[in-house]
Amino acid sequence: MINVTKTYLPNKEKYIKYVDEIYAKGWVTNNGPMLKELEKRLAKYLGVKNIILVANGTVALEIAYRTLDIKKYAITTPFSFVATTSSLVTNGIKPIFVDIDKKTLNIDPTKIKEAITPNTSAIVPVHVFGNPCDVEAIDKLAKENNLKVIYDAAHAFGVQHKDQSILNYGDISTLSFHATKLFHTIEGGALVINDDTLVEKARHLINFGIENAESIPELGTNAKMNEFEAAMGLCMLDEMEEIIEKRKVIYNRYKLGLKDIVKYQDSNPNSNKNYGYFPVIFNSEDEMQKVQNILNENDIYPRRYFYPSLDTLNYIEPKQYMKNSRDISKRILCLPLYPELLEDEQAKIINTVKDCL
Ligand SMILES: Cc1ncc(COP(=O)(O)O)c(C=O)c1O
Repeated sequence: MINVTKTYLPNKEKYIKYVDEIYAKGWVTNNGPMLKELEKRLAKYLGVKNIILVANGTVALEIAYRTLDIKKYAITTPFSFVATTSSLVTNGIKPIFVDIDKKTLNIDPTKIKEAITPNTSAIVPVHVFGNPCDVEAIDKLAKENNLKVIYDAAHAFGVQHKDQSILNYGDISTLSFHATKLFHTIEGGALVINDDTLVEKARHLINFGIENAESIPELGTNAKMNEFEAAMGLCMLDEMEEIIEKRKVIYNRYKLGLKDIVKYQDSNPNSNKNYGYFPVIFNSEDEMQKVQNILNENDIYPRRYFYPSLDTLNYIEPKQYMKNSRDISKRILCLPLYPELLEDEQAKIINTVKDCL
């Protein structure tokens, strides 16, 4: 069976050494030494000032909204994983969708202005499949209209834009370190915060709002990452170069093998790639379905990612209709892409797709 992704497990002996250390110290969670070390190493690796590790990418978004005091309405994209929208709704913020650009698959910045009202407090764009949004246009609009920007950068680990980390744009960027991601900590996530004065507040928010043993200044939650997860991150970080290189080879083989057969997302010309996903766009839903069925018959499981378009969720009020997002979400598939995918397995995927188009 070939799935869309397979969790990468780094060197086991190294991980066990970290586990031995955790046992020896007896410190398993609550801002432990491995978490601190991972924060330090990640800040350097990614090229960011302040990084706060948390339990997952969903809670990273929620902490970002609370840190920036986002209320009422936030403009966001309908073409994302459900957590981008559900995290807003669970925090009492109404998502106002702005449709995507069908080429980049990111929120269309030319349509944002008309969606802003006096009740809008933030923009929550997503760097879809690690492809940076038009951050210059979005950050300019946000400044002109006094809005906060939270980039859901769950897919954008290690992406550079115009010679700096993409995570340095906006007010806060959030990451997901789920086991299926390029870099992972089993479950996990992070906030990258550009304003130093907000870091302390976010740190309180992830720890029940507690400042110290006698003071609880914020309404917080429990969003902490534990030491076993941080240890996994430390092991992964040692192997990132190799992981990205292997993904790049597979990505380029797909590009060559499927040349002129399927359509691709347009890449931001000022950014590098992290080779996290290989999304392909078909001419119609029927065509996509045909490819998916035949791959499934061959025990290959690509993923309809993202589907459905988030404006179709039954808990969204007011109802909205996002034409481009609905169209793309019906005819896109992410093909299997992970470091251990074998060349002959990939050839089988490419040939199967080719044969049915
Ligand atoms: C775009 C996007 N945002 C948020 C999340 C949520 O991250 P997590 O699964 O770590 O909660 C994901 C997870 O896949 C995602 O793809």
